[in-house]
Amino acid sequence: MTTPQSVLELDAANVFQEAIGEEHGLSRAELDGLAERIADCHRRIEGRRGKDIGFMELAYDRQLADRVKEKAEELRNRCSNFVVLGIGGSALGNIAVHRALNHPFHNLLPDGHPARKGAPRLFVLDNVDPALIAGFRDVIGDQLSETVFNVITKSGSTAETMSLLLFVRDWLRREGGDPAAQIIATTDPHREESLLRRIAEEEGCFTLPVPPNVGGRFSVLSAVGLLSAAVGGISMDEMLDGAAAMDRVCRASTLDDNLAALYAAVLYLFYQKGKPITVLMPYSNALRGLADWYCQLWAESLGKRDGLSARDVFVGPTPIGAVGVTDQHAVMQLYQDGRFDKVITLVEVKDLLPSGDGGGPGDVPICRGESEEELAYLAKSTFGGLFGAELTAARFALRDKHRPNLTVRLPEVSARALGEVFMLFEYAVAYSGCLYDVNPFDQPGVELGKQYTYGLMGRDGYEAPGPDRMGR
Ligand code: PA5
Repeated sequence: MTTPQSVLELDAANVFQEAIGEEHGLSRAELDGLAERIADCHRRIEGRRGKDIGFMELAYDRQLADRVKEKAEELRNRCSNFVVLGIGGSALGNIAVHRALNHPFHNLLPDGHPARKGAPRLFVLDNVDPALIAGFRDVIGDQLSETVFNVITKSGSTAETMSLLLFVRDWLRREGGDPAAQIIATTDPHREESLLRRIAEEEGCFTLPVPPNVGGRFSVLSAVGLLSAAVGGISMDEMLDGAAAMDRVCRASTLDDNLAALYAAVLYLFYQKGKPITVLMPYSNALRGLADWYCQLWAESLGKRDGLSARDVFVGPTPIGAVGVTDQHAVMQLYQDGRFDKVITLVEVKDLLPSGDGGGPGDVPICRGESEEELAYLAKSTFGGLFGAELTAARFALRDKHRPNLTVRLPEVSARALGEVFMLFEYAVAYSGCLYDVNPFDQPGVELGKQYTYGLMGRDGYEAPGPDRMGR
């Protein structure tokens, strides 16, 4: 399915019975049977737009984008390392954008290399694993004075992120650094209890907002994801243009026009028919981070104990990330021959395939010289040719083994396309929440983990878990 507004296409042919057989495929009637519910979900989502649901409005906040751009320009001129400190929704979008749109070996390129686009080295610390922290310190070495930290926590209190903040502030203080200039705080400005907000005010740090109506995993197009993107030299305007284009697509009320609603409906129907696992498998090494972002978005939004109209429903599809072609030699065996419990979304990037004119990114020759006769079939081809053949092979193999699969087709991995993809999946999760009858915008399980951690660490006002706190 294509739309005039978007560069992204959604090919759902291989979910239908005509392609994968009656037993495992969907019938048109099953899909049409959801039309009314989708129209109802559409009304509900649109009714909350810009009120308590804000992710779709991010595409239009160009004032914020200009502010971020200005700050990013200044940072690009003064730092050698830009480090995001955050976790979950306050980190995964940054990783996805960086991996997708910056050079695959960005931090290893020498300073001044054109492929670095004048950007500093970029890091995201989203773990408090002591070995990671120690390793990070080694990598920064004597460049601490040229390093800027972007601390991102919407709540302003998450233990992992706050401990990283304490660690770097202390490090800066000891080494004669300047916390006011070297720490940037991104948090919810309206949240009284945001400790990050208080610290930033006391230290005099530059701050950026996370809108109150945008949850962590929906915040990649807010200041949360935009600052590191802009510091990396990525065009925020193009990314937001893509998001706005997909927003327009997803404002349609019918399954025929709304890609997100169609995607959500297909996955929901398969869930009901005993296929609760959703695999996102981009055929693009650059989109590995997108798969991780997708998994969090899907899992945290839809994995719920309580529904909106019933308790103890225990629902939620299980998302899995994979990457082509690497995982054809790892998990694809299971996807083709294992239990019939999965729906696979492949992502195809057209410009990684042969262009036809020999001048595209997919046209890298495998070998310009002689080769062994047995390897001539490879030698005469291109990496794009091989990559494309593997993707086509996977798609046919899945189809022939009656495995439902969809393909999201992008012209290239660009800021524009990525903006569309983010918006597509965020909307799809909003529609899914409505179909599964859960609130996709809360995360009570994550919050409980946070509270237990506070309790175990001795934070005032919080209790550690114990035998008397089992159950609800
Ligand atoms: O998506 C979410 O809401 C969560 O994954 C949060 O982003 C994560 O728990 C971090 O929260 P915070 O940004 O408040 O530190």
